[in-house]
Order: sequence, then structure tokens, then C-alpha cells
Amino acid sequence: MKHILVTGGAGYIGSHATLRLLELDHKITVVDDLSNGWQSAIDALSKVGDLTFIECRCGDYDKMMDLMSDHQIDLVMHFAAFAAVNESVKEPLMYYENNTGNSLSLLRAMMDSGVNNMVFSSTCATYGLPTPDQMPLTEDCPQKPISPYGWSKLWFEQALSQCTKANPSFACTALRYFNVAGCDPQGRVGEHHIPETHLIPICLEVAKGKRDDIKIFGSDYDTPDGTCIRDYVHVDDLIAAHLLAMKHLEPGVMQTFNVGIGRGYSVMEVIESCRRVTGHAIPAVSHERRQGDPDMLYNDPSKIQKAFNWKPKYEELDAIVATAWHEMNL
Ligand code: UFG
Repeated sequence: MKHILVTGGAGYIGSHATLRLLELDHKITVVDDLSNGWQSAIDALSKVGDLTFIECRCGDYDKMMDLMSDHQIDLVMHFAAFAAVNESVKEPLMYYENNTGNSLSLLRAMMDSGVNNMVFSSTCATYGLPTPDQMPLTEDCPQKPISPYGWSKLWFEQALSQCTKANPSFACTALRYFNVAGCDPQGRVGEHHIPETHLIPICLEVAKGKRDDIKIFGSDYDTPDGTCIRDYVHVDDLIAAHLLAMKHLEPGVMQTFNVGIGRGYSVMEVIESCRRVTGHAIPAVSHERRQGDPDMLYNDPSKIQKAFNWKPKYEELDAIVATAWHEMNL
């Protein structure tokens, strides 16, 4: 049993991580300022195991120092971040302050209190606009972000890498997520964003009658059906990668892994999957391109498969969508 600090544990991915860690009998402290998280997630998670919730920014150095000095924290899983690419273009400073600045304060508190283990949520947005011949993406593909969001995460990756070199007791792994989707199959926690910007939840809101249609952002991309291709990984498979990363941390080493299933689905294929799973028509309308969307992004999962023997349980899109649809209908 470990005592794990989960930042952003009331949000979509952090709450799924907290759920699995509690099921494995770890003692969990969640730090979340509820800017993108939900008290209802904390309430649901409190029924599962030994959970303490502290409502504050993970970048509050004094509070993090108190927490880390008073309790034996073995490891930090750091999810707390803003994650809307479009918003980051409009409000870059907000992204640097939160995703880079608050993360650096958290790291400073870890270093000052001797908490030496971290698993960090990074993103394939750090790769920017890869060329088609770089697909599928491996971890050594050049990192050239095209959004403040991507930069804000890459800067913290750099800080982690340099701090790990300078401190041989520090161990960390950065996981670069592709498109995370789906929910806990029992629906105890789910995916809720305000405003919602992600493709699958929007399609499901159309199926529910909460929206009239789904807008397809660009139908003239260089892909077989003209719509963008992404690699959708189920949130439980992503969390399984975190549990493995936690097990395989090595002092003085920063490890990086992409997490995506290694198969791409187009926007049209996602809409069709949502239609099949929900049984609803889900009207779709063509719309102009959204700024900064690469034609194709999908992963080469060999590195994480070899290192951790990670294998996704969800390889079919319909199965992923079904878990999200189930949660929405509870
Ligand atoms: N899309 C639409 N209509 C919508 C919403 C999305 O056509 O209403 C399209 C997008 O243009 C894109 C695809 O569906 O081609 C997927 O879009 P999402 O917004 O669901 O996801 P993104 O690929 O933009 O973003 C995700 C994560 C980011 C991460 C990024 C890396 O949410 O945090 O992958 O590329 F940075």
C-alpha cells in the first residue's frame, strides 16, 4: 500500500486514476482546485476507499509543503492541467501559468520535502504537426508543439528531465496521451467538461438530444475520407499504463512513453460508431477546419508494450464509446 498524491483527481482522467488506485487499496490524497473537476466525483470516489480531498491548487507551494512534510507521500500522479488546445491559443498565459508554473511549484515542493517519484500526464500535442511519414508516432519524433498547450506541457517535461539528471534519487515517467475516451464501465466516474469540446462526448450529447448536430471540423484533410484521424485510447487502458509506470520508476531516470492503441479512426468513423452504439441518427454537418488540427495522429505503441507489456483491453471504438454512453445514461 502506498500513499499517493493525485493532482487533478476530481477531473476526468484523474478521477479514473483515483478510482483504480483506491480499488488497489492505496491511500489517496487528491488535490484539485475544482476548476475543471467535480465535487460529485470526489463524493463517488470517497465510497470506494481511503480518500482525502484537499481543495487547492497543486501549485500552492506552502500547502503542498505542509502536505508532503506531514504525510509520507510515496508518489505524485500529476494530472492537474488545462487541456483545451483551442482555448490555449486564445489564453496562452493561463496555460503557461497553470500547466507549467503550478507544475514547477509542485515539483519544487516535492524536491524540498524529499518526495522523489512522479508520473506525469503529458500529451502527443508536444509533437506538433508531424509529417505523414512520421506516422505512427514514436517517442523520438521531434517535439515541436504548435499550441501553447503543447508548449506548456513540453516545458514541464524539460524541467523534469533536467531535475532528474541533477537529482539521482528522483524518478519520473511522462506519459504522452493520444485521444483519451470512454469511462469507468460501471459509470462511477465519467467525462464532464464545461464547455465540452471533444468529439465523442459531443456526438453522445447529440444522441441524447442535448444538441442538434455534430459539426465536422474539416472534410478536406489528406485522409481517406477527408476527416482527421486520431488514436482513441480507453481511459482505463491509459490508467493501466500509469500503474505500470508507477511500478517501473527508476531513480535518476526520466522515462517517456506514448499511450495510444496504435490505430487511427477518422472523425466520420467516430460519428458512425456513436450512431451504432446509441441507435440514434446523430446529424452531422460540414464545418470549416479548426485551427491547429493535424491530418493524422496515431501512435506506435511498441515502446510501452516492450517495456511494460502494456496491452489495451479496448481495441474497438464501439466498445470505448459504449462505456461513455452507459455513463451518460445512468
Ligand atoms: N472534432 C470535430 N467536431 C467537434 C469536435 C471535434 O470535427 O465538435 C474533430 C477535431 O477537429 C479533431 C477530432 O474531432 O479532428 C478530435 O477532436 P477532439 O477535440 O476530441 O480531440 P483533439 O484531438 O483535438 O485533442 C486531444 C486532447 C488534447 C490533446 C490532443 C492531442 O483532448 O488534450 O488530443 O492532439 F492535446
